[in-house]
Amino acid sequence: MSSIRELLSEGTELLRKTGLNNPARDSELLLCFAIESGKLGLYTNPDRTVTPDKKNLFLDYLTRRAAFEPISYITGKKEFMDSVFLVNRSVLIPRPETEHLVEQAAALAKQIIAPKLLDLGTGSGCIAVCLKKSVPDAEITAVDISEAALITARKNTKANGTAGIRFLRSDLFDALGPDESFDLIISNPPYVTNEEYASLLPETRLFEPENALRGGSDGLDFYRKILFEAPSRLLPGGKILFEVGYRQAGQVSDMIESTGKFGGIKVVRDLAYIERVVIARKI
Ligand SMILES: C[S@@+](CC[C@H](N)C(=O)[O-])C[C@H]1O[C@@H](n2cnc3c(N)ncnc32)[C@H](O)[C@@H]1O
Repeated sequence: MSSIRELLSEGTELLRKTGLNNPARDSELLLCFAIESGKLGLYTNPDRTVTPDKKNLFLDYLTRRAAFEPISYITGKKEFMDSVFLVNRSVLIPRPETEHLVEQAAALAKQIIAPKLLDLGTGSGCIAVCLKKSVPDAEITAVDISEAALITARKNTKANGTAGIRFLRSDLFDALGPDESFDLIISNPPYVTNEEYASLLPETRLFEPENALRGGSDGLDFYRKILFEAPSRLLPGGKILFEVGYRQAGQVSDMIESTGKFGGIKVVRDLAYIERVVIARKI
């Protein structure tokens, strides 16, 4: 029988050898998950022994982590805003920078009565679900090209008690009705360039869905496609809100400008002071 203290140090050592950045933190998180304990529980009684079943579970998690599987796919969940989302390999793991996109969209949606919102590329559903939580009277349509992602998004709406979101399998706007239009179109599209993709951390490149990440040779393919149709899908005065990648805000703003159909372009930075969200109003 091994104690918590022994397993923690064994796990840390194994993950350190793999070259992971936070071996002690990862070992701690996985042990908590295996023995169904909070972090405090590990340290209040570190000499407590762990049953062979739980130890094997922990060793299995360590093996997966040592092969670079993200912690969130191992535990099956990720916190985003003030909610918890179910995640698996069919959806991108929600990122903290996307919270800025949600905050901006929520602030705008709250100014409109029963706003019509479109979440393009919903993935886990994290944007749509958080918007529904903060703007309950919003009519939200959330689309994704991946049926597997939509299955997870539907589970997330149930798990978070946000009924009423309409999920649709669609290649961008394709499955929408011909006359459907929205107050806000919100999208965190795939925006990684081919070059960046090749040098992504293995935990992202080997595990997260490629079609949630790659945005073509310059990373901007989805902004081009979305901007082509967005003006006809926005109600008068409607707005588009994009999350953008590192150093893409200028190019995306130029693209928006060059359509001649938007004004009031605004860029919002994230906590790392990186330009992260681009917003524009249909004119
Ligand atoms: C960067 S992920 C964003 C996921 C989620 N909204 C988030 O912020 O965590 C992009 C999403 O777009 C979806 N996607 C890729 N191509 C698409 C397309 N042509 N039409 C609709 N969705 C698409 C992917 O399946 C993926 O779920």
